[in-house]
Amino acid sequence: MSEPTDFNDRMLSLGLARVSEAAALASASLVGRGDEKAADQAAVNAMREQLNKLDIAGVVVIGEGERDEAPMLYIGEEVGTGHGPAVDIALDPLEGTTLTAKDMPNALTVIAMGPRGSMLHAPDVYMDKLAIGPGLRRGVVTMDMSPSERISALASAKGCSTQDITVCVLDRPRHEDMIAEIRTTGAAIRLITDGDVAGVIHCAEPSTGIDMYMGSGGAPEGVLAAAALKCMGGQMFGRLLFRNDDERGRAKAAGITNLDRVYTRDDMVTKDVIFAATGVTDGSIVPGIKREPGWLTTETILMRSKTGSMRRMTYRNPTTAG
Ligand code: FBP
Repeated sequence: MSEPTDFNDRMLSLGLARVSEAAALASASLVGRGDEKAADQAAVNAMREQLNKLDIAGVVVIGEGERDEAPMLYIGEEVGTGHGPAVDIALDPLEGTTLTAKDMPNALTVIAMGPRGSMLHAPDVYMDKLAIGPGLRRGVVTMDMSPSERISALASAKGCSTQDITVCVLDRPRHEDMIAEIRTTGAAIRLITDGDVAGVIHCAEPSTGIDMYMGSGGAPEGVLAAAALKCMGGQMFGRLLFRNDDERGRAKAAGITNLDRVYTRDDMVTKDVIFAATGVTDGSIVPGIKREPGWLTTETILMRSKTGSMRRMTYRNPTTAG
């Protein structure tokens, strides 16, 4: 077994891209077909099959759910051939099942890998999230600030007016008050219906025009987003939110003792990580799957935190042999 800090990320990353591509290709025929479950299942099956070809001793840390509710890619499932470095895997075979079913933007397949013990075992509860892009003073925005304070602080750090700031937020009734407060600052809001992994990544990709992400979404998606920002640069904070004792129990079962803790990006992903995401539907980070007679084409971003590098990989795959 290799050193936990060096898990051969350079070569494994190429295999990780294939895993992400396989999940996207499998869901291609289900884009816009109104069936979230079928699209998700196709992606899960393909991701698992491809993941099991990698020479790793992998454990799913962020997956499809607890073992009793998810038969495949459940939390704790051992994946890979078992011959290779001991690694943690965080995955979401289809991030944006509704986006896929409705053929709406920014559905992705997502997977991240790091040395064993390097990823937060986030239970399937909500997480309050805050993210900004790279190049800003550490702690320029914090979880303790109100939404309007965060916008003012970010605007002054960027040397612009609050009107020049765009905040990405999940369009949910639970965010009504936050949205109203953001509006008082004059900042713009990019409302998204789903897909907050992409929402957070937007902050680190200047072409999206998004400066900050805030609001609550899935905690597992929070860890995946932290993995992406660790590769791209940028700050992220998350605090688990609990609606009842059952959810608090899930956190305790996952080994979390301080339920009020604010996690930074590097608390959620503590060591070097590799991250791959493939577009399923067209999005601001990667285009979606293109279907032409005889061909399916995907685009994948593949990133390594060790180097801060990003590859964009286009894969043209024949749908018929010969
Ligand atoms: P799915 O792909 O599992 O449908 O999740 C999509 C998503 O929008 C995530 O990106 C986000 O974290 C979560 O759902 C938000 O949950 P909710 O829909 O309950 O607000």
